[in-house]
Amino acid sequence: MPIINRIADFHDEITGWRRDLHQHPELQYDLPRTARTVAELLTGFGCDEVVQGLGKTGVVAVIHGRHNKSGKVIGLRADMDALPIVEASGKPYASKTSGRMHACGHDGHTAMLLGAARYLAETRNFDGTAVLIFQPAEEGGAGAKAMIDDGLLDRFGIQEVFGMHNFPGLPLGDFAIRHGALMAATDEFSIVCEGYGAHAARPNLSVDPVLMGAAIVQNLQSIAARNVDPLESVVVSVTVFQAGKAFNVIPQTAELRGTIRSLTAEVRTLAEKRLRIIVENTAAAFGGTAKIKFHRGYPVTANNPEKADFAAGIAAQIVGQSRVNTNVAPIMGGEDFSYMLEQRPGAFIFVGIGPGAGLHHPEYDFNDEVIPVGVSYWARLVETAMAA
Ligand code: NI
Repeated sequence: MPIINRIADFHDEITGWRRDLHQHPELQYDLPRTARTVAELLTGFGCDEVVQGLGKTGVVAVIHGRHNKSGKVIGLRADMDALPIVEASGKPYASKTSGRMHACGHDGHTAMLLGAARYLAETRNFDGTAVLIFQPAEEGGAGAKAMIDDGLLDRFGIQEVFGMHNFPGLPLGDFAIRHGALMAATDEFSIVCEGYGAHAARPNLSVDPVLMGAAIVQNLQSIAARNVDPLESVVVSVTVFQAGKAFNVIPQTAELRGTIRSLTAEVRTLAEKRLRIIVENTAAAFGGTAKIKFHRGYPVTANNPEKADFAAGIAAQIVGQSRVNTNVAPIMGGEDFSYMLEQRPGAFIFVGIGPGAGLHHPEYDFNDEVIPVGVSYWARLVETAMAA
C-alpha cells in the first residue's frame, strides 16, 4: 500500500505550510509565531483537543479514532525549532530573519505531522487515540524533556512514542532504522587550565597553560584509542581552545571546550571518568591545575526492538521493503527524542530526502517531495497500531 491518495491530494498545501515556517524560523523555546501557527491549523482541522504552552511553548493535539475500544494511546512527535545560521540556500522562500534558519528540517517535520493531523482528524479510521506532539528546543534545549517534565506522557496517557528525522544523502523516500542505539549520548565539557603567566622570552618563569592545554587535547584522544573497547563507539572532540592575546606573553589561563559522544551508558561513564583523570593529571604534570565542568546532555536514542520492527513494517507498506534499511549504522549526533524513548517504548526513524547539503549547513533545505511519504507513514502507523 503506497502513498495515501488523500494525502497526495494536499501535498501542495502542506508544502505551503512548510515554506511559510521556513520563512519565519524561531529558536529554542522562543517560538511565538510557530506555535501559534501550529495550534491554529490543528484547531482548524477539528482535533478534539489542542493544548499550548506545554514545556513552555510545546503544542499537543489529541485526535480520537472512530472507536475507542482499544484504549490505546500513541504519541507522534515533531520538533519546531530552527538554528542560529545565516541561510545561503538561495530559495525564494528563504528565511526572512538573517541569522536564523531551518537548517535541520524541523519545518518539514512540523509540516508533515500537521498533514497527518489533518488526515487523521478527517478520516478517524482507527480505534484509540493519537496524540500529536510539537516540541520546542530540540537543538540543545532539551524541549522533549521540558514537555515530559510538564506532564506530557501521563496527562495524555501516552503508551508508545514515535519520531522521525529527515536524512540528506539517503535516497528520497528511503527509510533507515535499527534496534537499540540509533543516536549518541552527547555530553559537553569545558576545562580551564590554570598556569602562571610570564614574558615569552622567559618561559622558565611560567607555567604555560597553552602547552598544558595542547597536551590535554592530545591525551584526551587516548580515551578512544586506549580506554574504550575498539568494538564500541566513542568520539572525543575538543572544539574550542582559547588562550592568550599577545605574541610575547605566555598567558595565565587557557580554556578548552568540546563534546564526548557515546552509544552506551557504560562507555559514557567510562569516558567521563577518564576525561577527569587525564585532565587533572596532565595539568599537574605541567605544574598547573585544571577546573573541569562536565554537563551530561541528551541520552542515547535507543529504539525498542519490537517497536522498531513495527515502524520498519509501516515504512515498508509505504515505499516497499527494499527501500527500508532495518540495520542502519548508528549516528554519533544527539537527539532529545531520547528522553521520550527512556520513558516509553517506541522508535525513531530516518527518512531520506535525497542529495543536497547536510543538516546544519547554510545551504541545506528540506525536500518537499518527501512530504507525502512522511505523512503517509504517520497515518498508516496510527491506522495499523490501532486498527479499527
Ligand atoms: Ni534535527
